[in-house]
Amino acid sequence: MFPMLKVVEYYTPQKVVFGVNAVDNLERYIKDMGITGKGVIVTDPVIVQTGSAERVSQALKKEGFEVVIFDQAKPEPDDIVCDQAAEFARKEKGDFVIGLGGGSSIDIAKVVAQLLVLPGKTADYLVTTSFPKKGAPIIAIPTTSGTGTECTMYSVITFAKDGIKGFFATPYILPDLALVDPTLTVSMPPKVTASTGADALAHAIETMMAKQENPLTDAIALKAIEFIAEALPVAVYEGNNLEARVKMAYASMMAGMAFNDPGIVEGHALAHTLGSVYHIPHGVGCAIALPYVMEYNMGHCMEKLARIAVALGQNTAGMSVREAAQAAVYAVKQLLEDVGLPTTWAPFGKKEDIPKLADMMVNCSWITAFYGWCKRTMTKEAAVELLNRSYEGRLGEKLY
Ligand SMILES: [Fe+2]
Repeated sequence: MFPMLKVVEYYTPQKVVFGVNAVDNLERYIKDMGITGKGVIVTDPVIVQTGSAERVSQALKKEGFEVVIFDQAKPEPDDIVCDQAAEFARKEKGDFVIGLGGGSSIDIAKVVAQLLVLPGKTADYLVTTSFPKKGAPIIAIPTTSGTGTECTMYSVITFAKDGIKGFFATPYILPDLALVDPTLTVSMPPKVTASTGADALAHAIETMMAKQENPLTDAIALKAIEFIAEALPVAVYEGNNLEARVKMAYASMMAGMAFNDPGIVEGHALAHTLGSVYHIPHGVGCAIALPYVMEYNMGHCMEKLARIAVALGQNTAGMSVREAAQAAVYAVKQLLEDVGLPTTWAPFGKKEDIPKLADMMVNCSWITAFYGWCKRTMTKEAAVELLNRSYEGRLGEKLY
């Protein structure tokens, strides 16, 4: 209610480099930071195939860095793949870790950097969501525009034993260097562009509805929303459009910077619930949840939603604040549908599952952890209502 009276904590990577072809000078940025020795690149087979892993290796070798590649990262990573990557890095005696790829590769790299200096396995630490100290230097180079993980202190890791999505949340895993080069995102297929872009949009909007929302992160989030509204459909349908890719890369990074401290809210709680049960890709789950969660929070952030409507390109002249706020909800749903994303989970699950899902939303500690960032208290009734609405694709009747 009174954001000016809050104490705000703000973490960012020690260094951020953003720009077209910036990756080709990676060696210089790393050397300038005093990082030396052998680099372990954590990536996936697709990124090797596109030539991006080789591009990074070549840049590093110009300055005499030794480089080895772990190329078995996988989407929605679990603790087992983190352990495999850590084992590889330990055997190779790596000195720093480079996460190259989508959020998954970077999230694995964040864990590997800690396990290079700590004993044991990923699950030993995942249960506490943290590590006891800072590990090896982390360099994050995204090849998608969505998670913003290059600028955050989070790493989402699934427990292999039961499929539940857990996460690390500690400044120790904040990358030392985030290098964002939009040319690395050009090869991303339309579906991945759309779902990752929805994740970035969810970060920007959800953080503005969070308890610790503040002027600093609002400003960053609003600009990210503006870029996504302008550039996401272009990036999806015209993948080679570098200007659209630049705007999406900025938006994803900025949304990551924005939510790093205030956190994200019920949209991610719902997305993680659906993701844990139906294994829906993260960005798709975020797209499904977002419009309903905006409406759910309208009572306490109407003015903000009205400003979001303007950032989304809506003409709100002559509208009441409530009408403008609702215009943001409808504009988000339309934008997501325009890029081919589902805005209901009906294609993935059964309505009869709602009691089980609602139970998870209020009792599973990995989901309820999100509510620490929320203004509203989640109840079983509210969870059932959110699940019903997002299953049926039902928003409130249009006021304008
Ligand atoms: Fe996310």
